[in-house]
Amino acid sequence: MSVNNIAVFTSGGDAPGMNACIRACVRAGIQKGWKVYGILNGYEGMIDGHINEMDSRSVGNIIHRGGTILKSSRSKRFTTAEGRKQAYEQLKSRNIDAVIAIGGDGTFKGTQEFTREYNIPFIGIPGTIDNDLFGTDYTIGYDSAVATAVELIDKVRDTANALGRLFFIEVMGRDVGTIALASGLASGAEDILIPEIKTDLDEISTKLKNSKQKESYIIVVAEGDDAGGVMEISAKFKQMHPEYDIKTLVLGHLLRGGNPSANDRILASRLGVAAVDAIAEGNFNVMAGIHNNRILFTPLNLSCKHFMEINQEWKHLMDLLSC
Ligand code: F6P
Repeated sequence: MSVNNIAVFTSGGDAPGMNACIRACVRAGIQKGWKVYGILNGYEGMIDGHINEMDSRSVGNIIHRGGTILKSSRSKRFTTAEGRKQAYEQLKSRNIDAVIAIGGDGTFKGTQEFTREYNIPFIGIPGTIDNDLFGTDYTIGYDSAVATAVELIDKVRDTANALGRLFFIEVMGRDVGTIALASGLASGAEDILIPEIKTDLDEISTKLKNSKQKESYIIVVAEGDDAGGVMEISAKFKQMHPEYDIKTLVLGHLLRGGNPSANDRILASRLGVAAVDAIAEGNFNVMAGIHNNRILFTPLNLSCKHFMEINQEWKHLMDLLSC
C-alpha cells in the first residue's frame, strides 16, 4: 500500500513524553514526504473531524512539555459502531492511509474494534504512566511519574522525620503496582502495598515493630491495592495502632504532570520514529515497544494490559534494606 497521508493522536490518561512522541511522529512522517495530520481530543476528535494538518513548526519547542498538545479523551462514543463509522468517514474523507495511536490499554482495545470493521490500519505507541502493557519494558511516562513520586515522597520524609510520623502515600497505577514498587524502593519506604501481593496489615505491624523505633515510617500504597485505597487502609491501621501518629496523602494526578524525564523524551522519540518506519514498511496493527533497549513490534491484539510479573528482586531489596 502506498502511503501519502498519516494521522497521529493521543488517547486516554495523558503521560509526560506524549509531546516528544507527537514531535517525532510528525517530523519523521514529513521526512518521508507524507502529509501528517493531528487529531485533537483523541477518539472524540476523530469522530467529530477535529483533524488538522501539521508541519515541523507545529511541534516546535514541545519536547520538554508535559501533557499533550493534541489533548486527549476517554471516548464512550468510539465504543459504539456508529461512533467508529463516523470516525472512519472522517479519516477516509482526508485520504488518511494509517493512524498512530499514542495511549494505553483502552486506546489499543479501540483500535482492534476499528480495524475489524475498517481497512485503515493503526500503529500503537505505549503512552501511559502505568507501565502495564505487554510488549514493552517501558511505557512513555512511567519513568517521569516514578521520578515525580520519588521527589514528592522525599519531601514527605523530611516532615515525617521531624514529627516522628507514619505516612501512607497513595500513587497512581490503576490496577498494577509498578509505580508504587519503583518509587517505594527508590525513596527508601518502609513498605509498599501493591495489587500483585495480598496485603496483610498484621505483617505491616510486625515489620514496623521490628524496625526499632525509626524516626519515621513511609508506606507507599498503589491505588489499586487489594486492601482498598490509602484512606481505607490508614483508617484500619489507626484502629490497630493508636500509638502511631498517622497521616495519609494521595499523590494522584501530580504524577501525570511535569516535564518528561530525559529517558521518556528519548523513549518517545525512538518509538515515534519506529512507528513511522513500521507504516513505511507496511507493518500494520502492531505496537512499537522497547525490550532490552531494542525496538520490538507486538501485534496490537496482544499488547493490551497484562498483569506485570512484579520485579521480585526489587521487592526483596525493599524488604532487605528498609529495616
Ligand atoms: O492510566 C493512567 C492513569 O493515570 C491511572 O494511573 C489512573 O488510575 C487513571 O489514569 C486516572 O484516570 P483519570 O485521569 O481519567 O481520572
